[in-house]
Amino acid sequence: MSDLQTKVMELARRRGIFWSSYEIYGGVAGLYDIGPIGIRIKNRIVELWRKYFIKDNAEFVVEIETPLVTPYKVLEASGHVENFTDPIVECTKCHNVYRADHLIEEIAKVNVEGLKPSELDNIIREKGIKCPKCGGDLGEVRLFNLLFETNIGPYTGNKGFIRPETAQGMFTSFKRVYESFRQRLPLGIAQVGRVGRNEISPRQGLIRMREFTIMEVEFFFDPESPGEVPLDKVGDLTINILRGEEKVKGEKPVQYKLREAVDEKVILNPWMAYWMGVATKFVSTLGIPQSSTYFEEKLPHERAHYSKQTFDQIVVIGEDKVEISGHAYRSDYDLSRHMKFSGQDLTVFKKYDTPKIVKKKTVIINRDELNKEGKEFVKTFMQFINGKSPEEVEEMINKGVKVSDKEISKYVKVLEREEKVTGTHFIPHVVEPSFGVERCLYLAVLNAYKEKDGRIVLSLPKQLAPYDLAVFPLLERDELIKKAKEIYNHLQEKYDVIYDDVGSIGKRYARVDEIGVPYSITVDPTTLSDNTVTIRDRDTWNQIRVEIERLDEVIEKLFKGEEFNKLGRVVDNNE
Ligand code: ATP
Ligand code: GLY
Repeated sequence: MSDLQTKVMELARRRGIFWSSYEIYGGVAGLYDIGPIGIRIKNRIVELWRKYFIKDNAEFVVEIETPLVTPYKVLEASGHVENFTDPIVECTKCHNVYRADHLIEEIAKVNVEGLKPSELDNIIREKGIKCPKCGGDLGEVRLFNLLFETNIGPYTGNKGFIRPETAQGMFTSFKRVYESFRQRLPLGIAQVGRVGRNEISPRQGLIRMREFTIMEVEFFFDPESPGEVPLDKVGDLTINILRGEEKVKGEKPVQYKLREAVDEKVILNPWMAYWMGVATKFVSTLGIPQSSTYFEEKLPHERAHYSKQTFDQIVVIGEDKVEISGHAYRSDYDLSRHMKFSGQDLTVFKKYDTPKIVKKKTVIINRDELNKEGKEFVKTFMQFINGKSPEEVEEMINKGVKVSDKEISKYVKVLEREEKVTGTHFIPHVVEPSFGVERCLYLAVLNAYKEKDGRIVLSLPKQLAPYDLAVFPLLERDELIKKAKEIYNHLQEKYDVIYDDVGSIGKRYARVDEIGVPYSITVDPTTLSDNTVTIRDRDTWNQIRVEIERLDEVIEKLFKGEEFNKLGRVVDNNE
């Protein structure tokens, strides 16, 4: 863990942002409690995501909620029972278990993502990699399934799992949502919910958890006529892309205009490009500069089993590169598999603008002629003809094919008829942007962590701060407390405000700086004589003095981004 991460973990514990769950029992790796401050930041992240992914696309995206507990059959159909695995390797001496690919990457500094167990085994032997804990020999690499298993109800045979992604809830309810919403494509189904992944050796704070919250959109469209992709909304954006083949050569990401990336087929699907654009905007609202992010294309062997093209959105923070979201072109993989395993029709009917007249051949059996030949022949003849297509039968007639020495043309003919067809059934294709909320939270906090004059300041973007404002009386005096509470009650109606009158003002400022509250309003003895308060800026520690009656207006302007020092009388630090 980097120095920065260690400092953030300490701050997070001390200030109620997050900490290891079940601490009093020693904690469990990969499980975290989100504290009273953390939950406020987290909720704001989720609301921002809802704005960018759902509200701004309300004409075609809806949100649903589906269960955590998932029947065996569903994840068998989705391929997770077979493929949701990571490679592990055990020390033959101390029996510590490692995630094999990560261990090799850490020690040998080579990228081995997606390689087979036997290939990883070879690298371990070639490079002479030993157990980092005891130096013992490592055993054979094998695959470990990350699904958490459970039983549904009291019957031992009724196996289920905790879902590893919310996506399957959207696929299994696709038809219901499609029919109840607007019966048109494109259609996005969004969900925010908990998932479980039995990660092998979770370290690194909230980056790798065993239970976390995911925010996903499964976006269904007609691959032949995908509809108007509103690239204009995001089309002028410049994003950094590291293509698969460039990555292998050790190249750096390259800048593309989103539209160029589509035109040049760097991003195969325009809808996927659209959501990557939306994701870029969303990540910048977390305070993470766009120059520190890029999209990394996964190579075929690195992609999940369901994906035709995948980009991971990467955030570079210090030495670390962290995936904040995954963008997969899942094609018709999931719906096709669920059709097969459930036996249900999950296709969508597409009506043609004008009905098409199609010529259709049918096989007609001349029963009268056939019956004249007796039961035995009828049986033999029917066995011969059954299951053959009209085209095959036609060809046999033309070739003079015989059954029991009799030419079949006497008993069968092929007629061509015209039929009116009003439309066609097809399986929609899907692209998916998928974000982990806690990774967003963690990266936003890491990015916001600053030290100023030996003190910590969490410079979160205003829209992510756990509270908008703090209100303090300078001293613990009744008249100051009374006035401060009046202001607090008033501001509470419109903002999230924290009130504190305990301890020295310096300590109270330090506390709100550490949790990232952008502005503090302080009532002091001058307030009582001239009805003014001070407003303090978290990042610069500058203060301005403003009349209480102007407070609403000034705060509104501050949140609109107007310059702090221009909104009141700047307070001299020695005042
Ligand atoms: P990784 O390669 O880091 O294991 P992944 O490729 O398995 O991640 P996805 O399956 O694409 O991740 O999951 C979508 C998103 O969920 C990720 O981009 C990330 O933000 C988040 N996520 C995935 N695994 C975890 C985890 N163990 N803990 C916290 N967040 C996670
Ligand atoms: N839904 C994408 C994933 O979590 O794998």
